[in-house]
Amino acid sequence: MKELILEAASGRSRIAIGSGAISGLSDAMAGRRALIVTDSNVGRLHSALFPQGAEVMGIGLGEESKTLETVESIYSRMLELELDRSSLIIGIGGGIVCDVAGYAATTYLRGMGLVLAPTTLLAQVDAAIGGKNGVNYKGYKNLVGTFRQPEAVLCDIRALRTLPTEEMRNGYAEVVKQAAIGDADAFAYLEERADEALRLQEDELERMVSDSAAIKAAIVQADEKEAGERMKLNYGHTIGHAIEKVAKVRHGEAVAAGMIAEADISVSKGMMERKDRERLSSLIGRLGLPVSVDADRELIIDAIRKDKKRRGGGIRMPVLDGIGKARIVDVTLEEMKDAIRDMP
Ligand code: GLY
Repeated sequence: MKELILEAASGRSRIAIGSGAISGLSDAMAGRRALIVTDSNVGRLHSALFPQGAEVMGIGLGEESKTLETVESIYSRMLELELDRSSLIIGIGGGIVCDVAGYAATTYLRGMGLVLAPTTLLAQVDAAIGGKNGVNYKGYKNLVGTFRQPEAVLCDIRALRTLPTEEMRNGYAEVVKQAAIGDADAFAYLEERADEALRLQEDELERMVSDSAAIKAAIVQADEKEAGERMKLNYGHTIGHAIEKVAKVRHGEAVAAGMIAEADISVSKGMMERKDRERLSSLIGRLGLPVSVDADRELIIDAIRKDKKRRGGGIRMPVLDGIGKARIVDVTLEEMKDAIRDMP
């Protein structure tokens, strides 16, 4: 079992990663009344691991459930159960459960206890770490939300055994991204042990999840409210989000292809050697992720142009400064167009 501490202005999180980490929920309850928020898939697969004595409620599956209506349904349950500020909300599930449970817990009675037990790779390395809670509103992702660190994040590696391969790949895209922006040794470890991770070997998964969580935790600790440093976590996502709008691909696939196109920007700016760009594309390919997508390049450029307008002008975005380091720089629309048109 590995343990990290994330200290930020909004709170302190203890992050535990390992096989059996979810059994720490009983201790985390510390005698408090608790409501578990989960979804039907997670309930079916993992309810035997839920702590005794907590109430359980399920929310709907998928992005459509990440709404204020879902949050209201949690408030109603809290009211029925007469929970108070000394009570605890426990989110057990993927990113949507963590974001929604976090938002309900941090707004009800102006904030009650929150513990997360993420059960997907993506949630273990990204959504559950860093204290962003929230829901979508009127078609805008994460428009309404709060920043507050959960008291504990318990990442149980065993939960990953039941995850579909495509869902593991979504997580791997973020694992690669986090190593690429923040830790050359973690990147080298991924290159060395990608095959063991794909076979779900626990030691390798534990190391990969804890390296990735540590990279994110250090970034969040330096810049919780995303004034600069935290923007690095968006590496691969500027082009990735545009790809996602245009092509029917999963988030991880779009981010993987986005990382390669954005690495080409680094190469053309002289910030990254071509051999490092090849290391990135080779690792992405080995993890079963695409280095490009079959989509109209001009539509992807159009989506970037619209996003640029929405954000008011230039494209300020993170790009790699070699493997293991990122920098926030200005990228011109011309540089962006070249990278997208030249996508492999
Ligand atoms: N998912 C990016 C962040 O937490 O800032």
